[in-house]
Amino acid sequence: MPKLLGLCGSLRAASSSAALMRTLAERIAPEATLEIADIASIPHYNADLDAPPEATRLINGIGAADGVVFVTPEYNYSVPGLLKNAIDWASRPAYQSVFKDKPAFIVSVSGGFLGGARAQGHLKYILNGMLAVPFTGQEIAVPHANAKVEDGRFTDEAALEFPLAELQRFVGMLRDGG
Ligand SMILES: Cc1cc2nc3c(=O)[nH]c(=O)nc-3n(C[C@H](O)[C@H](O)[C@H](O)COP(=O)(O)O)c2cc1C
Repeated sequence: MPKLLGLCGSLRAASSSAALMRTLAERIAPEATLEIADIASIPHYNADLDAPPEATRLINGIGAADGVVFVTPEYNYSVPGLLKNAIDWASRPAYQSVFKDKPAFIVSVSGGFLGGARAQGHLKYILNGMLAVPFTGQEIAVPHANAKVEDGRFTDEAALEFPLAELQRFVGMLRDGG
């Protein structure tokens, strides 16, 4: 069964991206494991330092995963600093990090109507720079996401259909060996 690691771009208790990540993890469970990484406690990136334990845990998790799943909001037209910080730790050494050749599945959300599409474009560009392999397909962008969450789970079945179908396609690709 493919092993996925999830990185979420929001720390809010009522986060729509965290709710969508949890719901995707539950729904994909028959076909893949999706463990959600704890990136909240990773210190700010500092090139003078060796990776702290929190970052090492993430790096090892990415290295051991068959694919990385990102669910992120858009902050000021781009990727939240929380997520970029985690990515930066895992991006070294340049072009030879755990992200090299790593399949990546990307979903963006927003409270507004664009679904975080701009952040999604930025994230794919960042992943390209690390020689990761963003999953190709239509953009998976979930607009008005806050209205689709209840008790930490994503509740809009119609809006869930496409992200879940694409995640299943991603898992199928991993199962077939990329
Ligand atoms: C600092 C900040 C910047 C934001 N910038 C954008 C933005 O550029 N585009 C957008 O569509 N929404 C933006 N939003 C609204 C988020 O899409 C919305 O708060 C969303 O629910 C955050 O994701 P979460 O529910 O996972 O926490 C911003 C929110 C914050 C807190």
